[in-house]
Amino acid sequence: MLSGYRRQALGCGRNEAWVTPHRRSGPTPSRSQFRHIHITSHLSVSETLVSDLEVGTENNDMASVLEGDQELMASFSLSESVHIRNKTLIDELRGELILAPLTRGNHAPFRKWCVELGCKVTMSEMAFAKPLLKGDRVERARLLKGESEHCYGFQIATKTISEGLEAARLARENGARWIDLNCGCPIYEATRRGLGAVLLRKPRSLAKLVHGIAKDSELPLTVKVRLGESEKKINVERVVKLLSAAGAASVIVHGRTMEQRYRKPADWQAISRVSNSSECAPVIGNGDILTQFEASRRMKESGCLAVLVGRGALIKPWIFKEYREDKELNPSSEERVSMYRRLYSLMKEHFGDDDIGRRKAWYFAPWHHSFFHRYRAFPESVYQERSLQHPLIMTRTDSFDPLMGEGSVHDLTPVERLLRNANENAHDAIANVLWEAASDAEAMQKLEVLQLEKGYVWEQEVKASPERGRSSGRDDGDERG
Ligand SMILES: Cc1cc2nc3c(=O)[nH]c(=O)nc-3n(C[C@H](O)[C@H](O)[C@H](O)COP(=O)(O)O)c2cc1C
Repeated sequence: MLSGYRRQALGCGRNEAWVTPHRRSGPTPSRSQFRHIHITSHLSVSETLVSDLEVGTENNDMASVLEGDQELMASFSLSESVHIRNKTLIDELRGELILAPLTRGNHAPFRKWCVELGCKVTMSEMAFAKPLLKGDRVERARLLKGESEHCYGFQIATKTISEGLEAARLARENGARWIDLNCGCPIYEATRRGLGAVLLRKPRSLAKLVHGIAKDSELPLTVKVRLGESEKKINVERVVKLLSAAGAASVIVHGRTMEQRYRKPADWQAISRVSNSSECAPVIGNGDILTQFEASRRMKESGCLAVLVGRGALIKPWIFKEYREDKELNPSSEERVSMYRRLYSLMKEHFGDDDIGRRKAWYFAPWHHSFFHRYRAFPESVYQERSLQHPLIMTRTDSFDPLMGEGSVHDLTPVERLLRNANENAHDAIANVLWEAASDAEAMQKLEVLQLEKGYVWEQEVKASPERGRSSGRDDGDERG
């Protein structure tokens, strides 16, 4: 059904919409020249097409959109081996809670930690294909897959078939299971180069790109998309149909538009519509999953092949264990400190347990606490209904929670209170303790002293200047998709 907002925007009545047949050339048509389309039982399809017309770069009218898409899809041909390998990958991904591509978050030690905590399918940070192929050190590092990662998806940003094929070859050499094309990244660094979410503006050109890569690539290909460029330009259903015919094994749908960034909850109804369309490849749903019960519920209700977790994994990587065991862990501050120390020991192993290693690790370590500090236990018994009504991850983390019997911050232990501190100075100091401490007990003792000596000052600093609590992690400023 068209929402009231969309009907209003289109200037039409309850069961009808106005679309323009010739938008591309000539003056803007008068209202009488508009074609009056009666919305039939295929409301979501009509809505998608209206949106596509609004995108208006490739299309003239609804009939020619359909015709053009059909022609293009009919021209695609894929060998039997492509179909078989797509199906094999889909079988491997079915039912999994997948670790999302996360620039800065998904470094090798973090992924290894997630695997230890029960994650079976991991994805890389996004690599720009052009510098990757020129041998850029940073982009090449994203290729490195850990031994324990048995199903690793390597994500690239490209707009050319040749780069895609070459990147797939490299990814295969480095043990990746599949490659993913990023069509969701909203950041300027990507969009100014015509990469990421701007590829959604031209669905047919994108489909040709995907077909060119999928048919000859040495690995199966998935594509990560958003709902569209903006709320007025939602074209996800059309895009996914085209990409499915073009040879994408699966499409990851992040249920927000490029323009929305994280301001609105993910639209799982839109994800479900695509996932339930018979013309679409299996869909991996993504957005606002913070607990194992949400992961299971979203998967079941949307009919998605699998679900992808981003910020939820950065806040509580033990979500994978919870999902696998189908029960909440709700770790105490002491248990969390012990788990965090495991990440630190993996970082030492990877970057080196010396000054150089520490300097390398410091790009990541305090940053992780800008996500860890948002952790709150969300038991299913308390939060099931609430998470349905209010799915936004960012606004579900007050410093204390009356639903959990917490009346004020004074009800928290000193270490719990410190771990919830949003101040980046606190994150740096916590990271120092975790790097230095020789045991969990020593870490706990030092963190307690830290809280008693400085915790209150850091809390006051955040109150006086909320910016202090807004490190890049908090704003999700580094997100690329
Ligand atoms: C710090 C950060 C880095 C991200 N980096 C990428 C990336 O490299 N590629 C990508 O496709 N998406 C990236 N994303 C988007 C996530 O993969 C995911 O689509 C998004 O966060 C929505 O899922 P969530 O609600 O579970 O967080 C990033 C997100 C965050 C928070």
